[in-house]
Amino acid sequence: MKRLGMGLVGPGFIAAHHLDAVRRLGNVDIVGIAGSSLDSARKRARELGVERAYASHAELLADPAVQVVHNTTPNHLHRDISLAALRAGKHVISDKPLASNTQESRELAEAARAAGVAHVVTFNYRGHALVQQARAMIAKGKLGAPVFVHGRYLQDWLTDQDTYTWRLDPKRGGASSALGDIGSHWCDLAEHVTGSRIVAVLADLHTVVPVRRAPAESTKAFATRGKNAPRREVAITSEDLASVLLRFDNGARGSLIVGQVLPGHKNDLRLEVNGRLASVAWQQEQPNTLWIGHHAQANTLLERDPALLDASARGYAHLPAGHPEAWADAFRNLIADAYAWIRRGGTPETRPLALPTFEDGYRNSLVIDAMLRSHAAGGIWQNVGDDIEPPRKKGKRG
Ligand SMILES: NC(=O)c1ccc[n+]([C@@H]2O[C@H](COP(=O)([O-])OP(=O)(O)OC[C@H]3O[C@@H](n4cnc5c(N)ncnc54)[C@H](O)[C@@H]3O)[C@@H](O)[C@H]2O)c1
Repeated sequence: MKRLGMGLVGPGFIAAHHLDAVRRLGNVDIVGIAGSSLDSARKRARELGVERAYASHAELLADPAVQVVHNTTPNHLHRDISLAALRAGKHVISDKPLASNTQESRELAEAARAAGVAHVVTFNYRGHALVQQARAMIAKGKLGAPVFVHGRYLQDWLTDQDTYTWRLDPKRGGASSALGDIGSHWCDLAEHVTGSRIVAVLADLHTVVPVRRAPAESTKAFATRGKNAPRREVAITSEDLASVLLRFDNGARGSLIVGQVLPGHKNDLRLEVNGRLASVAWQQEQPNTLWIGHHAQANTLLERDPALLDASARGYAHLPAGHPEAWADAFRNLIADAYAWIRRGGTPETRPLALPTFEDGYRNSLVIDAMLRSHAAGGIWQNVGDDIEPPRKKGKRG
């Protein structure tokens, strides 16, 4: 099989997992990485075992050996770097959220479609075998019509007032914090698993920690707990807690709670779908078990056993039952789908069904935007914005 060359921009926390997933494929060359400076790229290249460090993303994009670009920069850089990569004719795998706001996301979705390359957003929870199993069961009518879709994504890493991250700075993270950062994963998962779209939302947002004591200087993505470091007070304007009611286009109702300041919760993502015949629930901290709920017979727990899965989900399970597969395996599955799509030409017809695209990234930002609007309007229902309109023909006005 012909080898593909990839380059990565933004070699921080999640970048290491992109590279790990790519290495596991065995047929992709890691050509090089670009960071915020040549020095930082060189340092990270040594740490990550990557041969080449570029002085900038522009230099990386100019290298013909790089056919696929992974964009793992902080959110505010997603638009410019992904757009430049598309314009250079590269396939693009962007981490989530697609961009800082809906306008940018829309621009990227349209540019990706026009570029005719593969475009992927890493909503990686789709890569779990039992997530695909739940999706297949719902698509085949095993649950009957879904009536209630509910769940949570709760964390505690922002509990400490001395914890600070670029995610809390609207200029770098975007207007939303908890919803944009992790609520986005849940919304994508809920829509993917049910095959239905969130059409209206009612959100109540809150900032539990309105002032943080940030380290005077820090570029780290996550917590910095050194108590002796010099600190500055930062007023926080984005939410760290959210309660949201949902309506889906198939008539189902739903609810979602999201928080990042809730002691004891690490990556507590849970999705439950109740249909008229049966229910399913999946939790990312116990990803090898799918709960199947019944009314007139015993409930069951389905273990991630390739032999017991729907044919569409089986390819996402690699180990025999009882050997756990988890986050990194699901991430690898998504990256494997991305490269499979690239090898098939990146056309709409050849996309693996589980793979989230820039259009899904845009759709996701519309959902989060509606939640922000709902809260800003005093907690009233807001419709989720329209889908991408077809590009306007040149020469037409209005
Ligand atoms: N899919 C997931 O579950 C998941 C998990 C974590 C993070 N993410 C997403 O990944 C992205 C990065 O998050 P992170 O936690 O890795 O952050 P991070 O701060 O650890 O990494 C960001 C990297 O980008 C680099 N960078 C900054 N400016 C740059 C520039 N101009 N050019 C090139 N590189 C530059 C930084 O030096 C750093 O190495 C975010 O969009 C985040 O939402 C996704």
